[in-house]
Amino acid sequence: MIAADISKLKELALSAAAQAASMDELESVRIEYMGRKGVIQDVMQSLKDCSPEDRPGMGKAANDLKKALQKKIDERRIIIETEVESIRDKSFDFTLPGQWHSLGSRHPISAITERITEIFHTLGFTVADGPDIEDTYHNFDALNTPVDHPSRDEQDTFYLDNGNLLRCHTSPVQVRYMESHSPPVRIIAPGRCYRRDTPDATHSANFHQVEGLYVDKNVSLADLKGTISYFARQLMGLKVKTRFRPHFFPFTEPSVEVDFTCHVCSGAGCRVCKNSGWIEIMGAGMVDPNVFTAVGYENVTGYAFGMGIERIAMIMHGIQDIRLLYENDVRFLRQFQ
Ligand code: PHE
Repeated sequence: MIAADISKLKELALSAAAQAASMDELESVRIEYMGRKGVIQDVMQSLKDCSPEDRPGMGKAANDLKKALQKKIDERRIIIETEVESIRDKSFDFTLPGQWHSLGSRHPISAITERITEIFHTLGFTVADGPDIEDTYHNFDALNTPVDHPSRDEQDTFYLDNGNLLRCHTSPVQVRYMESHSPPVRIIAPGRCYRRDTPDATHSANFHQVEGLYVDKNVSLADLKGTISYFARQLMGLKVKTRFRPHFFPFTEPSVEVDFTCHVCSGAGCRVCKNSGWIEIMGAGMVDPNVFTAVGYENVTGYAFGMGIERIAMIMHGIQDIRLLYENDVRFLRQFQ
């Protein structure tokens, strides 16, 4: 054999690899040339019969052949894998439009909860949570709620057979947090709440609240007002005003209800705010000293607040019926993308 034979062989081998139309054919070419008993092996064997002067050149030519063929086979394999094999699969029609998986979006309840969390985060509040199944102590007793308070009624609260209940507000998280942390405290607690309400356009037996609690030395009602006013502007726009009305909650003293100017009419009066210009957004107040006694806090004051997320979502998005928020109708949810 001479060097010219090897270069002829190389031409043949490369063209055989280039023409292989399937992985099987390509594998046959590989075995024929590069297998243990293949052509290249024969060439290597024949080197020992060469004259010593020819041998290095022949050896190099044989090696080049091997390398070039391996490279060709690798290239061809990729081409067959991506093109030839898939064209062969007749079920694949390149002219059909692709399948479009539409993007999901966050549920308005999640989106607003995240926004509220973000706003309070900038004020140094961290997120706390507690169990949905509560005991009467954390849901009522420690929150200074008298035993004859109407909210304890079986008609208002879901009780379990073992005497526990589904929390009717996120306020028990205040108690749990203070039991396990010493002051100062700056938390918000978003979560689910349960009440025995008959579902209608504005009521649901399961809804969401965000609780807030701030405890330190010398915290005052003015701090609560400042924080809530800031929060209102961040959530609903810089023009939003807040109003505090006296109210009663067992766990705060004094207690207030907080209204924001109506998102729809900016305070002028419209159907959404029943012509008052104001919309009630949350309950709040200064933590009652009895609550501090229950958790063993001394020499501190603090404020707490709790707001309903569904209500805020309905006001901000003009949603007329709370049930739309739970039905997972994509035509409804798509509007919030
Ligand atoms: N827990 C009250 C409610 O569900 C709201 C609230 C929270 C009021 C904290 C005052 C302080 O209505």
